[in-house]
Amino acid sequence: RWALSQGINRAVLSFASRRGDPLAELMWSREVPDYGRLRARGPIHTNPFMAGTVSYAAADEILRSSDFGVGDGQGELPVPLRWLLGKVSAPDALGPVDPPSMLAVDPPLHTRYRKHVSKAFTARRIGSMAEMVTAVAGDLLDQIDPREGPVDIIEEYAAKLPITVIAELLGVPAADRADILRWGDQAAAILDPGLSWRDYSQVETAMRSLHHWFEDHVRRLRSDPGDDLLSALVIAGDLDDIELHALGLLVLAAGFETTVNLLGNAVAALDAHPSQRSLLLADPSLVDGVVEETLRWDPPVMATVREAYAATNVAGVDVSRGTAVAVVIGGANRDPSVFEDPDTYDISRANADQHLSFSAGAHFCLGASLARLEARVGLRMLFERFPSLRVSGEAVRRPTRILRGYASLPVAL
Ligand code: HEM
Repeated sequence: RWALSQGINRAVLSFASRRGDPLAELMWSREVPDYGRLRARGPIHTNPFMAGTVSYAAADEILRSSDFGVGDGQGELPVPLRWLLGKVSAPDALGPVDPPSMLAVDPPLHTRYRKHVSKAFTARRIGSMAEMVTAVAGDLLDQIDPREGPVDIIEEYAAKLPITVIAELLGVPAADRADILRWGDQAAAILDPGLSWRDYSQVETAMRSLHHWFEDHVRRLRSDPGDDLLSALVIAGDLDDIELHALGLLVLAAGFETTVNLLGNAVAALDAHPSQRSLLLADPSLVDGVVEETLRWDPPVMATVREAYAATNVAGVDVSRGTAVAVVIGGANRDPSVFEDPDTYDISRANADQHLSFSAGAHFCLGASLARLEARVGLRMLFERFPSLRVSGEAVRRPTRILRGYASLPVAL
């Protein structure tokens, strides 16, 4: 079912983007998006297949509204096709965004999951991770030899820090981390609508490996729980094996597929804006501003989708029941009515933290404080250790469209 929907989706998106539809172009393109064309279409742009918004007010309203929900995950497809696909077979439950993943369910089930997970994901647990994050970052930096010439800062640092941290959180044995990093990387395109057959097959194979690994992992923790978050959930006994598996997979994927982008995007943005880089070097406490402004200016997750469960009106535009609306986080973050001079990268911007990069409403990112902790500690330590760090080769963007970041970023230290 998933493969079929990807194929149809691909045809729909490529057709609409060839016809110059700005929303389809945005979802289809691997380049840094041009949000301006979509903004010119008003608060909500509708094409025959779906709708989308880059308006901050509309995005925020949709994410918080009970008239909208996460839908069936087929939001980009025309409604009759979604209905038809639903009849063909049951969903594969393949991904971190399929039920029973928290991201893919609405209240009241979502409220139940969120309540259990929040019990384990306490501010105290996250706060107590600061020491561990500092130690992991220090170890990784010790392994980098500045005399060796350009270093790929994504491979050597930005990817390793979040996977190590999330592995600690989920009790993943050190020996399994490299496999998980590889599978995660291969599966990252799962969020992109309209995958080619080749990309789809790669994602599916990687997802199956992750599923097998998780089944074994949950079984292991049942008989021998550790001190980690997943073990805490196993011991609490509120979730069954499939729910634990879905949740673990989501936390794993959400935890390391996004923070790597934040770290890499910050290094690249600072390099492209030398005056901002100098400000940070002169005053390391500005790292909080770097993190928030990078989240706003170059968000690791470019968009999410919500479906209207009732006919409604958003920002003065009528939206009919069943309409899937792409909430383009990256565009909302550049709305000039909220952010002055929105295309400028300014680490001293007073309201940068109003960005929607962690979403809003019921699905607001559960890992936001952990991601912020990792990025603040990780960037501060990186620039303290290597203050003359500069990009020194071709920066390559990841081929994924919803998750935005760098696949490689060579730097001279
Ligand atoms: C949800 C972004 C890091 C765990 C989300 C959503 C976004 C997001 C946009 C909501 C999507 C939607 O509304 O459809 C990010 C970014 C991160 C990050 C940009 C890093 C820079 C993390 C980390 C963790 C995490 C480190 C876990 C340790 C989750 C979970 C959800 C979520 C569990 C689902 C919440 C729910 O459905 O109620 N994240 N995330 N995220 N994130 Fe993050």
